[in-house]
Amino acid sequence: APSLAVESFAGTLDVLSRILPARLLKPRVAIVCGSGLSTLASSLRDVVEVPYSSLQGFGKSTVEGHRSALAFGLTGEGDGIPVVAMLGRFHPYEGHSLSTVVYPIRVLARLGVRDIIITNAAGSLNPNLDVGTIVSIQDHLALPNLTGFHPLLGPTRPNYPRFLPLSTAYSRPLRRLVFLAAHALRLPRDALAEGTYAWVSGPSYETPAEGRFLSAAGADVVGMSTVPEVLAAREEGINVCVLSLVTNKVVIPEYKSVREEVQAELAGKAIERAPEAEVSHEEVLSVGKQKAEVMKSLVAKLIELIAAE
Ligand code: 6GU
Repeated sequence: APSLAVESFAGTLDVLSRILPARLLKPRVAIVCGSGLSTLASSLRDVVEVPYSSLQGFGKSTVEGHRSALAFGLTGEGDGIPVVAMLGRFHPYEGHSLSTVVYPIRVLARLGVRDIIITNAAGSLNPNLDVGTIVSIQDHLALPNLTGFHPLLGPTRPNYPRFLPLSTAYSRPLRRLVFLAAHALRLPRDALAEGTYAWVSGPSYETPAEGRFLSAAGADVVGMSTVPEVLAAREEGINVCVLSLVTNKVVIPEYKSVREEVQAELAGKAIERAPEAEVSHEEVLSVGKQKAEVMKSLVAKLIELIAAE
């Protein structure tokens, strides 16, 4: 039973209940902080951070730009709203099994989380989505899921749906609140868009042909995370909101013929070499850090609106 192997919730929950004061132990809302976005949790107060290394069933984080802890805290005025933030996540490309990737989500469900805001850094496939844009995700395209790499594979379990429907996976009520939050913050119109996320397993970035393929298939942004977490959250009955920060544009150059370039060179003609561009993890992290402020205020306002509902 592959997806059951690491389920040891009692131990994990026991550690948390010993560390946390009662007012922090029952978070209503969870945030998953993507690459360069750990500052999303910096607006929480009375924070208690619990390193993943102290939590049974959690994997060992290996990716740069992540802090690797659960941060429990309060946001909003008055008594405050209890929130839990995942500072860093587990990715399949690090070698983690899909059941390890989604284990924290299942723990959050057992703490009583009802709404989850999952953030990520993503590459833009849609020419209208510039670097720095936040994309409210409305749907996903997951080739790994369609071909047998799926976090919910496993024997039927009592109280879990066998065939999880995904047509309403991205909560429309939460997406509505995202745009109301943007309005309340007076964000410029082009700061927030809507789109479809393509999940690829990584760790390589897309080839130009793959980028073109995903774009033709209807994806607006592409990334290496989030979808397994969305699936587990939906299976656990949690409402899902995903916000992608565009950190780079996917490089989809026109093919420029090398043959013609060589022929021109041999004929002694001046040649124009095609510029070559590559995406880097450093670029992804640095845009994440620069643009994290807008994401942070949007997430904080969204939580306020969720709590007021
Ligand atoms: Cl360009 N591709 C993928 N797969 N993931 C990304 C990305 C690109 N940019 C940020 N994350």
